[in-house]
Amino acid sequence: MRRNIVWEGADQLHYEIREIVGTAHKLEELGVEVIYENIGDPVQKGEEIAPWIRDIITGLASDSKSYAYTATEGDLNTRKFLADLVNKRGGCEITANDLIFFNGLGDAVSTVFAFLKREARVIGPSPAYSTLSSAEAAHSGYNHMTYTLDPEKNWMPDLDDLEKKVRYNDSIAGILLINPDNPTGAVYPTEVLKQIVDIARRYDLFVISDETYAHIVYNGGKTCHLSEVIGEVPGIAMRSISKEYPWPGGRCGWLEVFNRHRDANFDSFIQTLINAKRLEVCSTTLPQLSIPLVMGDPRYIPHLEGRAAIFAERAVEAVDILNKVPGIRVNLPRGAFYLTVLIDPESLTNWKTLEMPPLVEEFLREPMSRAAPDKKLVYNLLGATGLCTVPLSGFCTDLPGFRVTLLENDDEKRLKIWHTLAESLTSMLSS
Ligand SMILES: Cc1ncc(COP(=O)(O)O)c(C=O)c1O
Repeated sequence: MRRNIVWEGADQLHYEIREIVGTAHKLEELGVEVIYENIGDPVQKGEEIAPWIRDIITGLASDSKSYAYTATEGDLNTRKFLADLVNKRGGCEITANDLIFFNGLGDAVSTVFAFLKREARVIGPSPAYSTLSSAEAAHSGYNHMTYTLDPEKNWMPDLDDLEKKVRYNDSIAGILLINPDNPTGAVYPTEVLKQIVDIARRYDLFVISDETYAHIVYNGGKTCHLSEVIGEVPGIAMRSISKEYPWPGGRCGWLEVFNRHRDANFDSFIQTLINAKRLEVCSTTLPQLSIPLVMGDPRYIPHLEGRAAIFAERAVEAVDILNKVPGIRVNLPRGAFYLTVLIDPESLTNWKTLEMPPLVEEFLREPMSRAAPDKKLVYNLLGATGLCTVPLSGFCTDLPGFRVTLLENDDEKRLKIWHTLAESLTSMLSS
């Protein structure tokens, strides 16, 4: 090329959660029966969509109006409905004009970081959900800036670390949090959220709270929405129907913007996001139209409660089995549907590989030779047992380990997954 046409931050665009699938597919060709434990798609793992939700969506699919474009910011009736839900909670008041729809939160994340001034950084948690951390890193052209989630304290954010980084780095313009968190399953108590907002207030920052899993909280986790604690600080909550209905293939997510008009610079930034969406015309109509019908239905809250109770049981089941394995640490998830297995770094220095079929071993030799230590173990686990997990090194952290999901819907298969994991790790890590 006469000119370099590659974006400065291009090498930051990594999504390990899906990248491992390429390897898994190759192994399937070599005869390995792969169990996909990498991706947070409840439908792929066997969850049936509640018949009444399906009926609503079928009804909409039969209505010609669902096939039209919608307003750039999203369907007005839906935005009014959602603004009303926020206002009923108490806290920050918003109107329909403070909501912007996207084709899934993935789209919202890309747009937010694509149009954030390059020098303005957003500090996020480590471990980090890679869509967010990679988008932020790619926007800036540098590594993502992070504050620590402490595994010794149930993955609560280290607020001293956060404040120090904010104080000494004036390029930081925003704080990102994910609550409940992916990949750790941590749920931040209201007090922790208030302290994060307080840091933002004192240093004149905005807050982004990814609330994808806000209604999947269990095992004693207690939290609230950002809108309830944001006060007068500029903020954005990111919401989605992907994991709640669940309808990840619907590609429907939205931003709730708080205190937009209290800061002229923040206001201009939000207007830029809307202008960018306008160039695309709008986001998909039908899933938006379903929101007041589904979320306004009296069956919705019991539906959410029922799902949370299922994940609560699965989390306990997995932790009970895995915590007997020497050399690993698992904190009980209290939200979302992931489980992070931390591996003691010392056990990882001389772990024993599991035997793999010869062709599989030959295929994995090269990728294993250049992989981070935890990814090497994840490859071996995949090659030997077919379990496809995601190494923690793909989540912007130095802590070795991997993430699995609590999504397998077949009780027998799920138990087999935990026992296979426990037995494999015991063989790999015992001295
Ligand atoms: C924390 C978090 N944010 C955002 C997303 C993306 O969601 P969507 O399907 O709405 O793009 C995910 C998906 O796994 C997620 O875990």
